[in-house]
Amino acid sequence: SLLLLEASNNGDGAFKLAEKEDTHVKRSDFPSGFLFGAATSAYQVEGAYLEDAKSLSNWDVFCHSVVGCGEHGDNGDVADDHYHQFLDDIEMMHSLGLKAYRFSISWARILPRGRFGEVNPAGIMFYNKIIDNLILKGIEPFVTIFHNDFPQELEERYGSWLNTEMREEFVHMAEVCFKSFGDRVKYWITINEPNIFTEMAYEQGLFPPSRCSEPFGNCVAGNSDVEPLIVMHNLLLAHGMAAKLYHDKFQPKQGGSIGLVMHCLMFEPLTDSDLDRKAAKRAFAFNIGWSLDPVIFGEYPEEMREYLGSELPSFSLDEKNFMKNSTDFIGINHYSTTYTKDCTNSSCSPIANRAIRGFLDMVGERDGVPIGEPTKVEGLAVVPRGMGEIVNDIKIRYNNKPMFITENGYSSPDVQEEGINELVNDVKRVNFHAAYLASLAKSIREGADVRGYFVWSLLDNYEWLHGYDVKFGLYYVDRKTLTRVPKLSAKWYKNFLKNNSDVI
Ligand code: NOJ
Repeated sequence: SLLLLEASNNGDGAFKLAEKEDTHVKRSDFPSGFLFGAATSAYQVEGAYLEDAKSLSNWDVFCHSVVGCGEHGDNGDVADDHYHQFLDDIEMMHSLGLKAYRFSISWARILPRGRFGEVNPAGIMFYNKIIDNLILKGIEPFVTIFHNDFPQELEERYGSWLNTEMREEFVHMAEVCFKSFGDRVKYWITINEPNIFTEMAYEQGLFPPSRCSEPFGNCVAGNSDVEPLIVMHNLLLAHGMAAKLYHDKFQPKQGGSIGLVMHCLMFEPLTDSDLDRKAAKRAFAFNIGWSLDPVIFGEYPEEMREYLGSELPSFSLDEKNFMKNSTDFIGINHYSTTYTKDCTNSSCSPIANRAIRGFLDMVGERDGVPIGEPTKVEGLAVVPRGMGEIVNDIKIRYNNKPMFITENGYSSPDVQEEGINELVNDVKRVNFHAAYLASLAKSIREGADVRGYFVWSLLDNYEWLHGYDVKFGLYYVDRKTLTRVPKLSAKWYKNFLKNNSDVI
């Protein structure tokens, strides 16, 4: 944030410098080697869903099912046509002055049939071209190995991530990636938001394979009290096994690092009461510690064990050993903050009242006052202070392990059918990023080891449940021509990065 250095005369002729909070922020408020970038994921931008021997992914099949996926029948068949336009997209990143780009690899493009089938050379070639061109432009690739989409054939063969075989499949996919790209890729992310994947696919039934307790719409009967716990356990072990392989066999020669990315809401207590404060701590444990404790300490959080007992799976001694410190950095996807209300002592909604939720409710307002400006996505209010708070909480709990803000972004509630002028004139997005960055800069000044920041997203793209109406991009994408148009926010980011400016 801009340090407003106010000289105040304290009486004896000496001047004292006071620091004021402001949403003005400059590139120079961050360390010089700090990596500023933008992020995307394969299914959301690539399109070309049937090209060059790619197999169908779980999302391809889900979106083509009768119930469908995104609103208005939207899907990722064409998405942003990044598969054909990646060279221009990389040129755009370069023109903005980005120093890093986070993208994911389509598992179905690389290994259409999983570990018992062949590697698809066309898939390897596509990502080689992306990686080589990024490096040519001085942009560091951050590669996510699993971001929601994987071959449908595996889903069917094993009957979903409930099966431990999926760990072996993932490790094979990771090994193919390390072997093919690890000479150039120095930042690996095993899994994107395992907490959201687990919740959406195995508790709420909204992502494939649509499992939940109370069948509705697309959703089939599962057991939403235990399945998310089992799936998370498999995901975490898949991460740990891949990280062990990387640390043992690849890192010594290739010298990169590997991490996990979590969706990290900030939880503030609704009231000052002891119970609500404890509920906020528990919310951290059940949502963030659920994944980060195992990959750093080798154990699930104490609070989870206390409430879930033997339903929470355990790690064997051997597993604990390789899970511990299996992440070199923590990837934080941060968008918003919520109030947290205790439900152990008062009754809440049936959902909040469940053990797997930690007996707590997430509440968007206090005394009728919303926690922040609404966005297009329910539950993602604008609360800039939360950025610094979450970074600080993670810093303390995990001994200041290196962190990256792997996603942060804004989707305006009022842009929908308006003309392109409104869509590209995104003053609110500029204010959002400036305010969140100011809060981040403050936490870094206070000692947090944060090393990079990625805007979600480079482009307006396919948003899982909402299709193309929810727009997070620095660039607008015309849905008919697929032409990219820079928004005001793209110009602001460029000016921020290249000219150290806090104006557009
Ligand atoms: C997190 C996910 O990683 C990404 O795929 C999604 O589009 C954004 N958040 C926005 O919801």
